Amino acid sequence: MIIVGGTSNRSLSEHLAAESGSDIASVEIRNFPDGEKYVRILSSLAKKDVVIVSATYPDSNIIETLLLHDAASRAQPNTIRLLIPYYGYQRQDKLFREGESISAEVIAGILDGRFDEIMTVDLHAEGVSRYFHRTKVRNFVASALVARYFRKKRIDTVISPDGGSRAVEYAKIAANELGCEYDYFLKERIDSSTVKLYPKNVDVSGKTVLIVDDIIATGGSITAAIGRLSELGASDIYVGCTHGQFTGGALEKLNKIAREVISTDTIETEASKVSVAPVISDHLLEVRR
Ligand code: R5P
Repeated sequence: MIIVGGTSNRSLSEHLAAESGSDIASVEIRNFPDGEKYVRILSSLAKKDVVIVSATYPDSNIIETLLLHDAASRAQPNTIRLLIPYYGYQRQDKLFREGESISAEVIAGILDGRFDEIMTVDLHAEGVSRYFHRTKVRNFVASALVARYFRKKRIDTVISPDGGSRAVEYAKIAANELGCEYDYFLKERIDSSTVKLYPKNVDVSGKTVLIVDDIIATGGSITAAIGRLSELGASDIYVGCTHGQFTGGALEKLNKIAREVISTDTIETEASKVSVAPVISDHLLEVRR
């Protein structure tokens, strides 16, 4: 097996190669002066099982993913899998208002049929996979890995900031991993950076709390949850997410109000303290058997 890492997830690619005992391909990726991408795979991929690690976020990585696929497929490999650590454009998976585009379907249309398998992590809504007809999409859950990072912090309760979403499932898995309770708030999104939490009581007085979510984008959801937990008397508040987008200085803002904020390496930032490589590697070693 050989890992072909794009620019989006260099560290994850290396972790995955080490974890699965695979080679890592030598790849040249740069931009032409006009901004167009150039991709060249220097290692031989002939008759090999290839795993491309590349994202659909931000936009330029969509092009890079397609160019890496094209370069790899010209090298007569045995199979080509794609790991999209953070699947961009998944949130617009249906028409919310008249006149919109279903971007999740558009991106699926570009990728479907090109790969033997697509692997991804913590899809916001599994609905995305219904837009794939020829390539199987496997979704891996990272919340247990995130929870494990906090094992020594003696977490009393795991909280999901959004009781109406799959985030509650993540909170449940994290709580299971830590052997503690979990609870959730009910959230209403006002606009893309503002959320309102309904004043539900959760029993956190004097407790050490871990808030988990799949994505932190603007940090609005987590900020609202921290505010409510502080009102309710939580003593220490930690935050862990799978995909740390941290737009508009969200990480710096959250670091001021939480004891620690971490994410996985599906989007690589200074907060990426947990690698998702082990769960992906387990799967790759399993399918290779
Ligand atoms: C939304 O339903 C997701 O689970 C996250 O809660 C959301 O994407 C976080 O966005 P933000 O950080 O902008 O509140």
